[in-house]
Amino acid sequence: AAAEKGGFPSFMEKEINEQPMAVEQTLMGRTDPEGNLVLDELKIDESVLRAVDKIVVVACGTAAYAGQVARYAIEHWCRIPTEVELAHEFRYRDPIVDERTLVVALSQSGETMDTLMAVRHAQEQGAKVVAICNTNGSTIPREADAALYTHAGPEIAVASTKAFLAQITAAYLLGLYLAQLRGNKYKDEIAGILAELEAMPAKIQAVIDTQDQVKSLAQQMKDAASVLFLGRHVGYPVALEGALKLKEIAYIHAEGFAAGELKHGPIALIEEGQPVFVIVPSPRGRDSLHAKVVSNIQEIRARGAVTIVIAEEGDEAVADYANHVFRVPQAPTLLQPLLATVPLQIFACELATAKGYDVDQPRNLAKSVTVE
Ligand code: G6P
Repeated sequence: AAAEKGGFPSFMEKEINEQPMAVEQTLMGRTDPEGNLVLDELKIDESVLRAVDKIVVVACGTAAYAGQVARYAIEHWCRIPTEVELAHEFRYRDPIVDERTLVVALSQSGETMDTLMAVRHAQEQGAKVVAICNTNGSTIPREADAALYTHAGPEIAVASTKAFLAQITAAYLLGLYLAQLRGNKYKDEIAGILAELEAMPAKIQAVIDTQDQVKSLAQQMKDAASVLFLGRHVGYPVALEGALKLKEIAYIHAEGFAAGELKHGPIALIEEGQPVFVIVPSPRGRDSLHAKVVSNIQEIRARGAVTIVIAEEGDEAVADYANHVFRVPQAPTLLQPLLATVPLQIFACELATAKGYDVDQPRNLAKSVTVE
């Protein structure tokens, strides 16, 4: 088993370290020499894809957070209204789905029963389903109308890491492909975003290379009773994923919040010594979100929180209010989750290890849940 872990103490740590490769392999072979996206696997008539007027992403767990990231990207690039729904909630609300709806089922294993049932329900209503999946020939991609595989390689640890980054990558490709096909207003951005995507594996590696700093903080925080995570825009699902990782493997109470929601409730939780991770959007992004999140950091710091900030290299505005700063390379806002998630995974993995837990086989959880 030691050999299978490639010298790492756990599969989870190995898989975190494989993320540059997982993203690179998911991008590979999907562009032609002119730089156009070619998704031959997407065996749904182009006329059908052009007519899509709504996208619904269905998934569970970590995959559902990948879906939330996908929504921001797909809506921005394609201008198609996109919803994300937990697969087990989807069919029970009598969702409005028809022939012009494209359902995207995200699943690492391709065997999650809740997601499979959502796929079947969507198909019964006439929708086409694209599966984004990491396991060749599994049930969800077989039943879907088309499958876009992530090429992360087998993921053994129960808590998903490299599959998550690969799911996000594949969802970006799907969004860019639909934008390309439909020739809409963000078409000009496609080539630029593709080039930025190609640069992500090296940037992910740069984040991994700072892991000692994250690990030493995890060691220091090993007795924390609760950890909060704040993020905004695509940083919000990153915050949710950071919290989920801590719950899953370190058994610590953890919650992710949309940073804008802080003043509507969660700020009441802040007291002296409360650790709070904050995922800071790029200062180069639109909409002054950066300034708003920096002021959130100020607010919680003033109330005694220990602030752990994930910010871009060169973002000096965060320095005054951060107890700890982890830097990620600069990237377009929509792609930042591929970087900002990584320190949170390393933190959870190291903290759980420091507590003496088996990070690969957390209690009560299964890698793939094949019952409803
Ligand atoms: C289980 C796993 C999670 C995973 C979820 C969805 O609950 O413990 O780590 O995110 O299933 O799995 P899927 O294979 O559909 O991506």
